[in-house]
Amino acid sequence: MKRIVSGIKPTGSLTLGNYLGAIKQFVKLQEERENDEFYLFIADLHAITTRQIPHELRKRTLDIAAMYIASGLDKERTTMFIQSEIPQHVELGYILQSNVYMGELERMTQYKDKIVKGEDSITSSLFTYPALMAADILLYDADYVPVGEDQKQHLELSRDIAKRFNHYYSDFFTVPEPIIPSVGARIMDLQDPTKKMSKSADNPKGYITMFDEANIIKKKIKSAKTDSIGIINYDPIKQPGLANLLNIYASATDKKVEDIVSQYKDTDYKTFKEDLGQVLVDLLTPIQEKYQELIKSKLLQEILDQGRDRALDYAFKKMRKCKKKVGLGRK
Ligand code: AMP
Ligand code: TRP
Repeated sequence: MKRIVSGIKPTGSLTLGNYLGAIKQFVKLQEERENDEFYLFIADLHAITTRQIPHELRKRTLDIAAMYIASGLDKERTTMFIQSEIPQHVELGYILQSNVYMGELERMTQYKDKIVKGEDSITSSLFTYPALMAADILLYDADYVPVGEDQKQHLELSRDIAKRFNHYYSDFFTVPEPIIPSVGARIMDLQDPTKKMSKSADNPKGYITMFDEANIIKKKIKSAKTDSIGIINYDPIKQPGLANLLNIYASATDKKVEDIVSQYKDTDYKTFKEDLGQVLVDLLTPIQEKYQELIKSKLLQEILDQGRDRALDYAFKKMRKCKKKVGLGRK
């Protein structure tokens, strides 16, 4: 049995990109690996490395938990919890900060990008973020960590920190491996297909959120930018808007792009878009209905309570041993 651990940062509301690129992949991984154990947490401590409005942060934290369950995550096989409810993350994060060098943190592109953009209110926790992320993973002896391409570098650093700690104090942490999805990894903006679909886009017509109503979803797909070529064909260079819609269709239905192209090749954009709109409504409506039931329910609270208790149990034992190894405290 292997342990798979991942975290999601509760910033901004969830989009179709998050669903196809992360949530759906996670659910699929769980279906494929039926003997493995899954730990999934909402990384609220990571969220506050940039300014958050308190009531919005709390709402999004619960929204994400509910959306994952509504999307088909098996609640019996998932230890789902909220990061800040397990104090050992911060405790281990500090110990790991003492095992990572300034130079290594300065090389992290996510941090460097902010410096290059000239952002001035960069907090010290944003700088040390990778040490907390390493703690999130190493605390539970994760074997595998599913993440998007953008987190690969942070994971590499987590591996280096684990090896360094093991080398100095003798074997203690499992060195984790990343799992990076190959499909659905990049859903683009509906109005500007050169940009990743993101809730921070200026034009709300460019993204579909997990909460959009049926008529809004259909409208957004209908007004998605395509081209004047008018032929259904997969060509990301000449027809990037259409290629993105084909990718969305494929990812939503688990069909191959080429099969969708041959299905629609004798039709027009209007027909294809109408069908895609319906595919997405059929996909999202049942998830939204489950979400509505869950968000008000005791069940969600129970899942999070149970997740917290299980995670605490593991984290407490691991940290007690860790402190002993490092020479902290009396015994
Ligand atoms: P973020 O919302 O950027 O913190 O990302 C949360 C997760 O959703 C990460 O695993 C991302 O890789 C994934 N994700 C976000 N936007 C997209 C997108 N447009 N296409 C595919 N995956 C995405
Ligand atoms: N840093 C990740 C992100 O921005 C979220 C995250 C925090 C995470 N801790 C983690 C992901 C541990 C995997 C494992 O998306």
